[in-house]
Amino acid sequence: MVEQVAEVGVIGGSGLYALLDDVVEHRVETPYGPPSDPVMVGEVGGRRVAFLPRHGRDHRFPPHLIPYRANLWALRSLGVRQVLAPCAVGGLRPELGPGTFVLPDQLVDRTSGRTQTYYDEGAVHVSFADPYCPVGRATVRATAAESTVDIVDGGTMVVVEGPRFSTRAESQWYAGLGWSVVNMTGHPEAVLARELALCYTPIALVTDLDAGIESGAGVSQEEVFRVFGENTERLRTLLLRVAAALPTERTCDCAHALDGIDTGLPLP
Ligand code: ADE
Repeated sequence: MVEQVAEVGVIGGSGLYALLDDVVEHRVETPYGPPSDPVMVGEVGGRRVAFLPRHGRDHRFPPHLIPYRANLWALRSLGVRQVLAPCAVGGLRPELGPGTFVLPDQLVDRTSGRTQTYYDEGAVHVSFADPYCPVGRATVRATAAESTVDIVDGGTMVVVEGPRFSTRAESQWYAGLGWSVVNMTGHPEAVLARELALCYTPIALVTDLDAGIESGAGVSQEEVFRVFGENTERLRTLLLRVAAALPTERTCDCAHALDGIDTGLPLP
């Protein structure tokens, strides 16, 4: 029996490179190479929390080159079963301006060429109709309400390949389809979590209004990083409260994503 080092995982987005104060560093190897960074494990409200900066602490991995499979595998191998996934997003509706927190409930994949599965042999088809953990989402909702943090509950996150931002026409197209926010890292992270039977809950922080929503020069990297930086403390506080509030017993379907499927791959 492998020791459970942590229960809750947080995969930090652009600008969130540290989360916890007293941490033990774990250098994890996986069949998919090393994760983006060593995993930092600490305690929050009696829960052991593993933090992994998605892009690496020096932001060396652009969205299309993040080792997504290694990251989720590394967290699972440390014992993590519930993952919180903060991320920077562009708003596709005028009312979703910079600084807004959004709790997406749906995802559209517009990436291309990213490896999006652990299972290259046999029949392994996980359900993904509802890509996010309902219990994780309910916990974020309740924690935000208790903390008087405004969060927009629901919405579709479209994940683009990047690393460029969208054209105005692409952005207007996404908005016209009723989608709420756009980002570059939400896929394949969410589906890989599901393929490992992990709970996965995104918390999106709007850093900009996307090109089709606002006239002007369009989105800039400087704006995204600056606004994320301005909101890091709010996000950090929310994440720590949610991590502490997540139920210790898993009652959702995420844990059963692989029930009855012969994956041929022993999970860590
Ligand atoms: N991340 C933050 N803002 C974004 C945008 N407008 N498009 C894609 N990814 C983003």
